[in-house]
Amino acid sequence: MARLTVLTLFLLITNQTFGFNGDSFELECPDECDCHYFRINWVTDCSESNLTEVPYEELSMSVYILDLNGNNITELKTFPSDIKMRRLQIADNRLSKIDRESFKGLEYLIDVDLSGNNISYIDPEAFLDSRGLLNVELQDNPISTVEGPFLVSSTLQFLDISNCNLSIINYQFFDNITSLTNVDLSNNPLRTLDRGVFDILTSLETLKLNDCKLTNITDNVFSSLTNLKYLELAGNLLTTVSWPDLLGKLFRLEYLNLRKTGITELSEDTFSNCTNLVTLILADNELPELDVAATLGNSVNHLELLDLSNCKIRGPIAGDAFANATRLKTLYLSGNPLFAPDLQEALEPLPKLEKLFMSNCGLRKLPDNFNVFDNLQELDISHNPLVNVFTKLLAPLENLEYLNMGYSNLSYIGPDTFSKMTSMKRLVLSGNDLLSLEAGLFGNLTQLMTLELEVCGLKRPLNSNAFFKNLTYMDLREIRLGGNPLIIPAIGPLFPKQLSQVTIMDLSNCNISSLHIDAFKNTENITELNLAGNRISSKDNGLQFLQRLHQLEKVNLSNNNLTAIDPQVFINNPKLHSLNLIGNRFICDCKIAEMWDWANMIKGNLDVLVGAKSAEKDIVVKGNKKKKHLYCHYNETQLRNMTIPVNKTIPGRRPFIKPRELTFANRTWAKYVRESGCEPVVKILKPVALVTKLFNSDDLRISPAAVVMALIALVFGVSTFLMTLRLFFRRTTKVEYDTENNRKLR
Ligand SMILES: *[C@@H]1O[C@H](CO)[C@@H](O)[C@H](O)[C@H]1NC(C)=O
Ligand SMILES: *[C@@H]1O[C@H](CO)[C@@H](O)[C@H](O)[C@H]1NC(C)=O
Ligand SMILES: *[C@@H]1O[C@H](CO)[C@@H](O)[C@H](O)[C@H]1NC(C)=O
Ligand SMILES: *[C@@H]1O[C@H](CO)[C@@H](O)[C@H](O)[C@H]1NC(C)=O
Ligand SMILES: *[C@@H]1O[C@H](CO)[C@@H](O)[C@H](O)[C@H]1NC(C)=O
Ligand SMILES: *[C@@H]1O[C@H](CO)[C@@H](O)[C@H](O)[C@H]1NC(C)=O
Ligand SMILES: *[C@@H]1O[C@H](CO)[C@@H](O)[C@H](O)[C@H]1NC(C)=O
Ligand SMILES: *[C@@H]1O[C@H](CO)[C@@H](O)[C@H](O)[C@H]1NC(C)=O
Ligand SMILES: *[C@@H]1O[C@H](CO)[C@@H](O)[C@H](O)[C@H]1NC(C)=O
Ligand SMILES: *[C@@H]1O[C@H](CO)[C@@H](O)[C@H](O)[C@H]1NC(C)=O
Ligand SMILES: *[C@@H]1O[C@H](CO)[C@@H](O)[C@H](O)[C@H]1NC(C)=O
Ligand SMILES: *[C@@H]1O[C@H](CO)[C@@H](O)[C@H](O)[C@H]1NC(C)=O
Repeated sequence: MARLTVLTLFLLITNQTFGFNGDSFELECPDECDCHYFRINWVTDCSESNLTEVPYEELSMSVYILDLNGNNITELKTFPSDIKMRRLQIADNRLSKIDRESFKGLEYLIDVDLSGNNISYIDPEAFLDSRGLLNVELQDNPISTVEGPFLVSSTLQFLDISNCNLSIINYQFFDNITSLTNVDLSNNPLRTLDRGVFDILTSLETLKLNDCKLTNITDNVFSSLTNLKYLELAGNLLTTVSWPDLLGKLFRLEYLNLRKTGITELSEDTFSNCTNLVTLILADNELPELDVAATLGNSVNHLELLDLSNCKIRGPIAGDAFANATRLKTLYLSGNPLFAPDLQEALEPLPKLEKLFMSNCGLRKLPDNFNVFDNLQELDISHNPLVNVFTKLLAPLENLEYLNMGYSNLSYIGPDTFSKMTSMKRLVLSGNDLLSLEAGLFGNLTQLMTLELEVCGLKRPLNSNAFFKNLTYMDLREIRLGGNPLIIPAIGPLFPKQLSQVTIMDLSNCNISSLHIDAFKNTENITELNLAGNRISSKDNGLQFLQRLHQLEKVNLSNNNLTAIDPQVFINNPKLHSLNLIGNRFICDCKIAEMWDWANMIKGNLDVLVGAKSAEKDIVVKGNKKKKHLYCHYNETQLRNMTIPVNKTIPGRRPFIKPRELTFANRTWAKYVRESGCEPVVKILKPVALVTKLFNSDDLRISPAAVVMALIALVFGVSTFLMTLRLFFRRTTKVEYDTENNRKLR
């Protein structure tokens, strides 16, 4: 509490622009870019800004992360020598080479993303000055040939050179990057691996060589990799490989992916030295006469996960196929034509099984002995022609907690089907054309937490008689109804009273164009609401249904038909901390700036507006390079009449340095807020928010000092609240475009 008091005082007496617009303690930022702090680090985000060159002169020397992804940059010059940049992202541009000069002097650089360019040459000494370099991403470049050592860096640990059209790894390739722990060479047409190419990489833990057209690998090519834990060789034709020799020295191997490698059998001693192997993926190989014991020999008794999906296993499966794999917890048999009686015998030795995947196995019946699987928590029997005869087959599964029967051609589910599965926590029925649900169908599922009914052709949301009338389903917290062509009734609540405890509701892609104010009357405790991909518009109070959702924390309204938005619609959602509005065609007007300020100041965090700035997930290494931004649109008339004020200071907004002309109708919200000159509304609103915070505080041990402060804040707040109201009313009547003229009028 004391801290809050001090903070209140501080905020009241300093008429600050603290944190304002994310631009406080402004460091330099190029005109075209959005800059903000990420934690304490200065991020300069110039991604997807149509840049043709790096704005070297306008960079702050303290830039920590520079994001230039998705521009049109063809050439790198030299960065200013004092720059303290840690991360440089310049993926998806048009760079063709990397010279020694490009990274000269970047002493602090830790990671660099150069993927998706047109790079054919890299000077091996390019990163010589970056003495802390850890990560280099070069995937998706036409590097093709490398002579001698590839790079010189004594610290580099992560190197991605997948899909670089490399046809050979020469003997010296890794000579000067011996600290590597993770290397991805996938998708290069290597065909073969020569003896000794990896010998120097004794620290290597992860090696990926998927889809390298490998056919013949020298027996001892991995023999120095004694620390290797993770090896992927999927998508190569490795029929003639001597596996015991190839893997014989990989004592630490835990994960091995041999998906689609042409394997038809493996001798008993294949994995005999890989005593730590936990995960083995053999999917998409032809192993018609499955006998795991014979195929995997003794090694199976350490395995916990075995993936045999799509292995053309032709029944009958030998009764003792899994006899020695007693530790197995997860078994994938999906995509093999299986019969219930075989399975029954084969699975008998696996009482520890926790997860069993038998999707797409042509099963019409299920084994009868599921009762031996005391630990079985997850069962996936989706995509099987199980037709409509369930009750008996599923009856033994009384302890099951997760059942996926999605996409199983069901048009009708008998009312007693789940009546004995009282332990069920998550039930997936998605992808069946259900049209309607039988009375009492979910009645006995009293422990159910999640119900998934996506893409079921449902026209009505859940009807009340699928549940017992007299019961509130206390554990049922999550309902997924995405992709149903719902017809929303004109009046009354969408969901029955039994579902009053639901907190997560997914109604994405449900063809919803409007929701009336009572839509969630029986489900007022919703905290997460997904309405993405509907047709909700801004007209006729389109978002009024939010008023009843006082507990709402997250709402997804992306890809709807919203054109305008006003922070006032969230006035009854005090807990809201994530609002996704991406993919709506907003008109650029000062309401956008109000939303911005609302997030930034009332909510105290711009991250509330998804896509307003780089989120944590955009800053991670190897993330999706294409960010989703919040956009608004000018119309042609507006665009023609816009000029951007140079050096005009509006409190809390960053002025432009260079004269600019607008040539594109799309603006990110960040750019619009800067150039529009809209008044910073929240400067006035903020004390109100603070007072609200004080009185809403769960912590009721209010100190006298706090009360005094609160009172001061209240007086201040009330007066400014009135001013704010005036401001709001002045704006609500018509959509006001923010042109230079309008601004002058105000
Ligand atoms: C970039 O340029 C293209 C046309 O070349 C335009 O459609 C697009 O809106 C521009 N993007 C930005 C962010 O200005
Ligand atoms: C990049 O430049 C090329 C040619 O100069 C142009 O065709 C393309 O539209 C530009 N892309 C962007 C995103 O500006
Ligand atoms: C690169 O590695 C080779 C062989 O280990 C060594 O002789 C050479 O000095 C190294 N070069 C640099 C620049 O470190
Ligand atoms: C694989 O390569 C080795 C030498 O690199 C050669 O001796 C052997 O015959 C090859 N095997 C096949 C099946 O091509
Ligand atoms: C397996 O490991 C032993 C030492 O533990 C070693 O002698 C043997 O050669 C290894 N097997 C292969 C095929 O490398
Ligand atoms: C399976 O284990 C038993 C002892 O637990 C052993 O006798 C048998 O040889 C093993 N089978 C295979 C194929 O390794
Ligand atoms: C519901 O479950 C209870 C307890 O497991 C059981 O006694 C009852 O028969 C079940 N109801 C139906 C309709 O099967
Ligand atoms: C609720 O109604 C069902 C039948 O609809 C009945 O079997 C059950 O015992 C009732 N439960 C309670 C708690 O009243
Ligand atoms: C919301 O949850 C609270 C606490 O669990 C409960 O008291 C209240 O009745 C719920 N609201 C509705 C509409 O059921
Ligand atoms: C979206 O809204 C606009 C105007 O409000 C309307 O013309 C358009 O038909 C709507 N689109 C859909 C898919 O409902
Ligand atoms: C936009 O500019 C045109 C001249 O180019 C002018 O006639 C018009 O009044 C301006 N409109 C607005 C809304 O400022
Ligand atoms: C564009 O916006 C102006 C207001 O700035 C408005 O007067 C005009 O009608 C709009 N034009 C179109 C085509 O929507």
